[in-house]
Amino acid sequence: MKTEMIAAAGLLATAAKADSIFSGNGFGTYYYDIDSPSACSTDFSVANTGQVECSLTQVYTLEDVGSEYLVAMNHSQLISDMGKYCGKKVEVTVNGVKSDLPLFIGDGCYRCSQGTPDQDTWQPDGSPGLDFSFSVLDKLSSEACTDGHIDISWEIVDESLYTFDYDGSGTPQGPVSGVTTTAITTTTSPTTSPSGSASPTTLATTTSPASASATPTSSSCSSNTWQCNSDSTALEQCVNSSWTTVETCGTGTTCQGTSNPYCA
Ligand SMILES: *[C@@H]1O[C@H](CO)[C@@H](O)[C@H](O)[C@H]1NC(C)=O
Ligand SMILES: *[C@@H]1O[C@H](CO)[C@@H](O)[C@H](O)[C@H]1NC(C)=O
Repeated sequence: MKTEMIAAAGLLATAAKADSIFSGNGFGTYYYDIDSPSACSTDFSVANTGQVECSLTQVYTLEDVGSEYLVAMNHSQLISDMGKYCGKKVEVTVNGVKSDLPLFIGDGCYRCSQGTPDQDTWQPDGSPGLDFSFSVLDKLSSEACTDGHIDISWEIVDESLYTFDYDGSGTPQGPVSGVTTTAITTTTSPTTSPSGSASPTTLATTTSPASASATPTSSSCSSNTWQCNSDSTALEQCVNSSWTTVETCGTGTTCQGTSNPYCA
């Protein structure tokens, strides 16, 4: 591995090289954008209200996260061990250049769970990779808007940039202290966060979604398994022996898949 470009950023509180959790090659795409909800002639306003998979029982949308740096990964892999991946830093390399953006895992990508991990041809319905905000994909490649998908390699490392309530324990969610996850437009001149005074950045929307929608819907299921709810409008995970709504499918989408559900 290359040496870290520590000088680049007051963004990271910890500069120590973090252990690798998972790495891969594939394709980067985009699916939301908070700062520019109509970038690339696309209306992201509905996508931005999508609930992130890493918030297990609290209603928490991409707008609530309020960051362009949230990244979606292989949905099946993510839901198999949310504690391992949620909030962890992702280092993305495009054309041999490793990005120093503070990217972190927060959501599941269905396309990234289909196809095979070693597949090197793009298939819109199934290709390994990651799904980003448009702003981030556009920073990673000038072809983001014209091609819609770019070649990437990535490494998820054992360094938390964002805290998610991935297990339904009620953990407050937000950026790890000292990490700036907002304001992509100012990344070239790292925001003047005085080193040391690491107050978590203000999130765009802190409309206290904290009141958990942890409405157990039925009993006796085996922990961490998933299903669609009865009318296919939401994804449910078994938490403490009760089916719990994790993600409500957005307008025009329904819950599909059985033990590995997704909204489409
Ligand atoms: C996604 O993750 C699942 C579970 O780890 C794995 O079986 C599958 O091969 C992965 N798919 C891709 C495209 O990487
Ligand atoms: C699940 O059970 C554990 C232990 O009893 C408890 O601490 C936790 O709050 C429960 N989580 C939910 C979402 O009810």
